[in-house]
Amino acid sequence: MKAKLTFSKSFPIGDVDPRLYGSFIEHLGRAVYGGIYEPTHPAADDMGFRRDVLELVRKLGVPIVRYPGGNFVSGYKWEDGTGPRSLRPRRAELAWKTIETNEIGIDEFQEWAKRANSEVMMAVNLGTRGPEEARELVEYCNFKGGTYQSDRRIKNGFKDPFNIKTWCLGNEMDGPWQMGAKTAVEYGRTANEAAKLMKWVDPSIELVVCGSSGSGMATFGKWEATVLDHTYENVDFLSLHSYYGNRDNNTENFLACSLNMDQFISSVVSICDYVKACKRSKKTMMLSFDEWNVWFHSNEADKKIAPWQIAPPQLEDVYTMEDALVVGCLLITLLKHADRVKMACLAQLVNVIAPIMTQNNGVAWMQTTFFPFMDASLYGRGKVLAPALDSPKYESSYGDAPYVETVGVYNEEKEEFTVFAVNRSLTEDMEMDIDLRDFPGFAPKDYHILTASGMKVTNTAEHPWDVLPMALPLPEMDGGIAKPSLPPHSWNVLVFGKKKD
Ligand code: AHR
Repeated sequence: MKAKLTFSKSFPIGDVDPRLYGSFIEHLGRAVYGGIYEPTHPAADDMGFRRDVLELVRKLGVPIVRYPGGNFVSGYKWEDGTGPRSLRPRRAELAWKTIETNEIGIDEFQEWAKRANSEVMMAVNLGTRGPEEARELVEYCNFKGGTYQSDRRIKNGFKDPFNIKTWCLGNEMDGPWQMGAKTAVEYGRTANEAAKLMKWVDPSIELVVCGSSGSGMATFGKWEATVLDHTYENVDFLSLHSYYGNRDNNTENFLACSLNMDQFISSVVSICDYVKACKRSKKTMMLSFDEWNVWFHSNEADKKIAPWQIAPPQLEDVYTMEDALVVGCLLITLLKHADRVKMACLAQLVNVIAPIMTQNNGVAWMQTTFFPFMDASLYGRGKVLAPALDSPKYESSYGDAPYVETVGVYNEEKEEFTVFAVNRSLTEDMEMDIDLRDFPGFAPKDYHILTASGMKVTNTAEHPWDVLPMALPLPEMDGGIAKPSLPPHSWNVLVFGKKKD
């Protein structure tokens, strides 16, 4: 098969906000306990954080990590995770039916984030709690001193404020599974009052208000419009969440699910702009896709996990090669909306539907999905250019899908242009003509791919290297046209750089 692709600096989509490569750590399963934190592990540092995990997180280049939930946050008392550990309560955690020891809280997590070269995206509980507790948390984290909560922080050993900039106003408040779920009007009013109080404590913070927990919710659309009607001028981002799975074991169809994400984002952009027009507002609402991933492998196993354990192995999806391709397509889709999607969180980061896995008291390793995420995070910074693509297509339940999913990111500072591309064909090479005549003096610099002998190949503790990136010979260039041949079912990263004289 053949496809043609042209990129021009004259057709930018938008600048990538580095927070597009965010991720998520929830108090769920073994994400915290046995994941980022295991004081008895040989690799534990002075605070009990696993150094092997920190090293992998740093490799991924994750600039922001959402915390502490997720569904967990809707019943969370943030004070439980502060101050002397001996005084912290154990609680029955209702979202995931576990026992929460509160050994880790914001006191420790903000330090972990620093060690991971990351920032915290902090979520507040608007389920069982409200604006009062939310503003107190902002005071605890960001106020310099001389008030009840900021002095408590100082007493707990943190003289300097945590200066957390990005905050989520609750989590999936439309979902009946959520503790303290609300109607759009109830949530819109609560979120707006919380937003006002939080920003009065610290006007420099940015706020994410909850959109629907998925585009399949019966209230999708109306929820966004109503919530924004109440909150528009006091918030900065609207959230989107979406998870995908190959439930009917149809790989070609599964690979097309990014079309659903694309449509979801476009619809939410339209709703935001509708509210903007109704309000004659000057402000354009940005989007935070703060939960996205493949999630389905562990669904059945999770039903068999007994309740009320500490850190049971929940949501431990073992990712395949085809999942990595889907993650690649989803990353490309997020980039194609870089003008409006300014933040996104791969949900999640360690052990729980995660690119990084650990054994308790054992090894840490990279799942298949680690690699496309790392590539996008490392090479996908700069200006996104619109792909003018002419590719053969196939029918899928998500619509007609091009065999090639692609986007380009121009890093002006580094004089580098990177093309990300997935060949969705399971059987055929894709002969590409990539027109780069708008990049005079650029030549291929690096070409690497991710593929495997079969679509169900995984990386596990016993076989951690079965799916690994592989360097390919640099593609030929002919009069400014690069001519790579993308292997079947592959994730491709083609880096072009300015030739030095
Ligand atoms: O990421 C797992 C869960 O998915 C989160 O807790 C929740 O927000 C979503 O439904």
